[in-house]
Amino acid sequence: MKTNKTVLITAGPTREALDPVRYISNHSSGKMGYAIAQEFLRRDYKVILVSGPVQVTIDAHPFLTLIKTESAIDMLNACEQYFSTTDICIFAAAVADYRPAEPASQKIKKKSDTLIIELVKNPDIASCFGKVKTTQQLSIGFALETNDEMEHAKQKMHSKNLDLVVLNSMNDKQATFGFDTNKISILDRSGEVFLFPLKSKKEVAGDIADATEALLPFGV
Ligand code: PMT
Repeated sequence: MKTNKTVLITAGPTREALDPVRYISNHSSGKMGYAIAQEFLRRDYKVILVSGPVQVTIDAHPFLTLIKTESAIDMLNACEQYFSTTDICIFAAAVADYRPAEPASQKIKKKSDTLIIELVKNPDIASCFGKVKTTQQLSIGFALETNDEMEHAKQKMHSKNLDLVVLNSMNDKQATFGFDTNKISILDRSGEVFLFPLKSKKEVAGDIADATEALLPFGV
């Protein structure tokens, strides 16, 4: 039986246009976010999947709304339409922190030996939700780190008003970008840290869903 709960999940990278043919992006494949979406569909949630440009696919499902976006601003605009009606937001996307201040309207020509591009800060989607969420809504963020992992993850929990942080480290083999496996730790607001071994992203999605459901104000 379908739960009456809705989960919004962001997934994949964003692309920030430099000119009509080039962009700034990152290596996110979307596999983690899509696996989370699949897991919540399996648990009979209504799923809103807001995706950056990825190769990975998901089968059509009566409880799935898939919204494809390109840039961080597109992704924020799509998410904002659902913030007030979702019970849980899970921010698995690797959103570009900066975008070119003024994308060129025509292809940038190769002239000088160096090229300086001014970047401006993108809106932080998880923080935007953190500012408006009610006590009945849950916010789960990821932290992707290269150093001082725990410290940075804790800072993100507080600065983005997250209920859980899923930490994955670029230092772990077969984990993070592009792999079918991931190695995570889940931090909660009481300071507890749950460590998990390397698992398939499908199994990791199950662990994230279990940890999320354990926090739901009125149960599933
Ligand atoms: O897509 P895969 O190849 O399967 O790889 C999975 C993953 C490594 C991309 C994923 O597991 C992951 O770590 N996603 C978050 C990557 C990231 O951008 O982390 P961050 O530490 O920079 O951001 C912290 C949190 O804020 C994240 O929940 C992020 O979605 C969110 N954020 C960040 C910036 C921004 N402008 N808006 C955001 O919502």
